[in-house]
Amino acid sequence: MSTYIIHGGRKLQGEAYVSGSKNASLPILAASILNKGITRLYNVPDIHDTKVMIDILRYLGCKVKKNHDKITIDARCITRYEIPEELMRKMRSSVILAGALLGRTGKATFSYPGGCDIGARPIDLHLKAFEKLGINISENTGFITCICDTILGEKIHLDFPSVGATENAILAATLAKNTTIISNAAMEPEIVDLQNFLNKMGAKIEGAGTSEIIIKGVSSLKDQGYKIMPDRIEAGTLLCCTAATAGHIILKNACAEHLTPVLDKLQECGCNVEIRKNEIELKAPKKLQGIEIKTMPYPGFPTDMQAIFLSMLTVAKGTSVITENIFENRYKYTAELKRMGAKIIIEGKTAIVKGVRKLSGASVSATDLRGGAALVLAGLIASGKTKIDKIEYILRGYENLDKKLSNLGAKITKEVV
Ligand code: EPZ
Repeated sequence: MSTYIIHGGRKLQGEAYVSGSKNASLPILAASILNKGITRLYNVPDIHDTKVMIDILRYLGCKVKKNHDKITIDARCITRYEIPEELMRKMRSSVILAGALLGRTGKATFSYPGGCDIGARPIDLHLKAFEKLGINISENTGFITCICDTILGEKIHLDFPSVGATENAILAATLAKNTTIISNAAMEPEIVDLQNFLNKMGAKIEGAGTSEIIIKGVSSLKDQGYKIMPDRIEAGTLLCCTAATAGHIILKNACAEHLTPVLDKLQECGCNVEIRKNEIELKAPKKLQGIEIKTMPYPGFPTDMQAIFLSMLTVAKGTSVITENIFENRYKYTAELKRMGAKIIIEGKTAIVKGVRKLSGASVSATDLRGGAALVLAGLIASGKTKIDKIEYILRGYENLDKKLSNLGAKITKEVV
C-alpha cells in the first residue's frame, strides 16, 4: 500500500503540463481491436488503468508495445473473446471491450463489472443497446455472454446519456451492416475523441458531441496513428489545487473548451482565468467565495470534478451547496475531509459545506479516484502534515500527480510500502 505525505500551507505557482485523457484513452485502446492491423496511439497517460487495459488487450491476443506515451497495438490476431474476471474487477470500465470484441468477432463474455465506491454502476443500458443491434445476451453465474452472427445497425435510444453505453454502442456498430442511430447519446468530449479516432481509421461516424450519433457501418478499418486529447479532469484538478492555495498557474496542453463549466465556477469563486491557445492561466484570490454547484451530464458541471471542487470550498467564504446528480454514492470522501476539520452536512444528493478558516493535517484514506484527489487538495491547504493512504486509487487516474504538484511548489512525497 502506498501513501502520500503532504506538508500543507504552500502556495502553488508555475507551469504544469496536462497529460493525455484517461477517459479518452480507455475506449480508444479498446477500439483498436476493431482494426485487423496495427494502430499507433500517442499521448496515452502512463497510469494504472491504461496498464490494465493493455494487459487485457494482450490477454485477448494483441501484441502491444509501450514506449512512454506511445502505444502500438497489433490486433491482427484476436485469440480470445472473454474478459477475465480478475481484470474486469480491477477496472470496471473494461466493459467497454465488449462492444469492440462484438464488433470484431461477434462474441464477448465478461463478468458483471460490479459496483465501486461511487455507486452501483449497472450496465443495463449497455446490454439494451447490444440487444437492439441484434446481439443475443445470456447470463450465467455472474457471467454475461453476448453473441451474434451479424450486427445489424438499428435505432438505439438511451434512457440516460450514459458515457460508457454510448461508447459501447459506437464500438459495436462501427463494422455493422448498414446504419445505427443513437439518440439521447452522451455528449462528453471523450466521445468526440473516440469518433475522431475511428473516422481517422476509416469509420463513418458523425454527431459525437451532440445527443444524436449516426454510425454508417464499414467493412474494415485501416492502420493509423492518433494523439489522445488532454485530460480535462486532471486539468481541472490542477486548477483547483492552485485556486485552493491562492496560487497562480499556467496550464499547458489544456483544452479550455472542454472545461467551460469548471472555468465558469472557478471565476464565480473569485479566480481570474485567462484562456490562450492550448493554455489556461489562473490567478486565485487570497480567499475563495463559496458557491452552488450541480453536477450534470456534459456540457454541465462534470461529476468527476465534484469531490475536488467541494474540497476546495471547505475553506471558502460563506456556505457552498453541491448537488451530485449522476452517481448515488459519491460523497464517501467527505468523512475523511471532516477528520481534517471540514464542516460538511450530507443530505441525500446534496452536500452543504460551511467554509472554515483552515483545515488541519491528519491521517486519511482515499476512498476512490476523485475522492482521493480531493484529499490531496485538502492536504495542500491544511496546516501541518497530512498522510493519505490507499493512494492506489489516485494512481489509477493521475500521471505523476505528486511530481506535478512538487514542481508547482507543493511539499508532497510518495512512500511506497
Ligand atoms: C464514465 O463512466 C467515466 N469513466 C466516469 O469517470 C464519469 O464519472 C462518468 O462517465 C460520467 O461522466 C470512464 O470514462 C472510464 P455513465 P461511466 O455510464 O461510463 C448510470 C472517473 O473518475 N448507468 O455515464 O461508467 C450510472 O450508474 C470516472 O474518471 C446506468 O444506470 O458513466 C451512473 O449513475 C468515474 N446504467 C450514470 O448512469 C448503465 O447501463 C452515469 O454513468 C450505465 C450507467
